[in-house]
Amino acid sequence: MSVDTTGYQANPWRGRFNAGFFRAMEGYLDWHLRPRKAEVFADLPDEVVELGSGVGANLRYMPPGSRVIAVEPNPHMHAGLRRQAQRRGIEVDIRDVVGERVDLPDGSADTVISSLVLCTVTDPARVLAEVHRVLQPGGRFCFVEHVAAAEGTFTRRVQRAVRRPWRWVFEGCSCERDLAATIQAAGFKHVTIQPYRIHSPFLPFNTQIAGHATR
Ligand SMILES: C[S@@+](CC[C@H](N)C(=O)[O-])C[C@H]1O[C@@H](n2cnc3c(N)ncnc32)[C@H](O)[C@@H]1O
Repeated sequence: MSVDTTGYQANPWRGRFNAGFFRAMEGYLDWHLRPRKAEVFADLPDEVVELGSGVGANLRYMPPGSRVIAVEPNPHMHAGLRRQAQRRGIEVDIRDVVGERVDLPDGSADTVISSLVLCTVTDPARVLAEVHRVLQPGGRFCFVEHVAAAEGTFTRRVQRAVRRPWRWVFEGCSCERDLAATIQAAGFKHVTIQPYRIHSPFLPFNTQIAGHATR
């Protein structure tokens, strides 16, 4: 088991399972998320920092020839991410660190992106503080994330019921986070957040948000 000094532990079996799962599901998930991603990741610059790149689901939104600094602590994701980057003509610089402690200088990034990551990190507020720190003034955080459903709904009840097995299988993932509130509270100058719903068989995952936060 590989252990990061910040507490991240890549489980040898579930780490591999998740790499395989996201590789296998990439096209299907993109089919659901493409309308939002196409808006939120439109006009990305030639270099972006990506949190939790996984096996490269978002590389398709970057122009060939661009460069991504990929903050990805699960080593089982790295080979797939490198392959996908090569296939798409994108330079990838993988940082084997967690989003809670990004090894980049203050104000060094124009754009930070994430999809389906703030659900899984140990401390979303700390990750957002890091995003704020590494962005230059006027820089943007572009995100697509899944969040808790409204209280009292059937989806919210299902999210609560599957909490433990879901977290175990997907290595820390929670479907019960109010990430819109966490992003609003992270000190950005301007935040736009669009809540929406997809209709996949993975019910707890269907309530989502997408948007931008400008430093
Ligand atoms: C659900 S996957 C999403 C992967 C990819 N972004 C996508 O949309 O397919 C969550 C990713 O976040 C990564 N991750 C987990 N904890 C993290 C942390 N503390 N900091 C940064 N990334 C993390 C996982 O290794 C995994 O690649």
